[in-house]
Amino acid sequence: MKSPAAAGLFILALAFGAAAQDAKRGEYVSKAAGCIGCHKIGSEGAAIGPELTHVGGRLNAAGIREAILLPDAKVTKGFEKFAGIMPKTFGDQLTAKQFEALVSFLAAHK
Ligand code: HEC
Repeated sequence: MKSPAAAGLFILALAFGAAAQDAKRGEYVSKAAGCIGCHKIGSEGAAIGPELTHVGGRLNAAGIREAILLPDAKVTKGFEKFAGIMPKTFGDQLTAKQFEALVSFLAAHK
């Protein structure tokens, strides 16, 4: 490394790379876990549950975690008819890493 600035840039690039990788993992989990079977995210998915494309603008990461782990705790306005159909088992199916990648992926969708 020639200069401290170059070293800084290098570290920044690594951090961005890791964030991009996490977002990719989150996107992958949203498909693999079947979220898009009920939710639209971007151009993909079904409109049974609320669209999640801008979910990060409505809920923060804690709110998203709760919506996934305890879907019945706060039913989304307008979806009362569909309350109870979202599986409550994702917390058990996903590893902590997959779960957190999914939450940050969704929280970033503002
Ligand atoms: C079988 C259909 C179904 C599946 C599969 C499903 N959901 Fe849902 N989800 C719903 C329904 C219906 C609601 C609205 C009613 C409620 O709040 O329980 C909802 C609500 C939500 C909300 C709250 C949205 C808001 O704007 O308040 C989030 C976040 C969410 N789901 C995330 C997920 C994620 C992430 C997955 C995959 C791990 C997933 N859901 C899988 C049906 C589903």
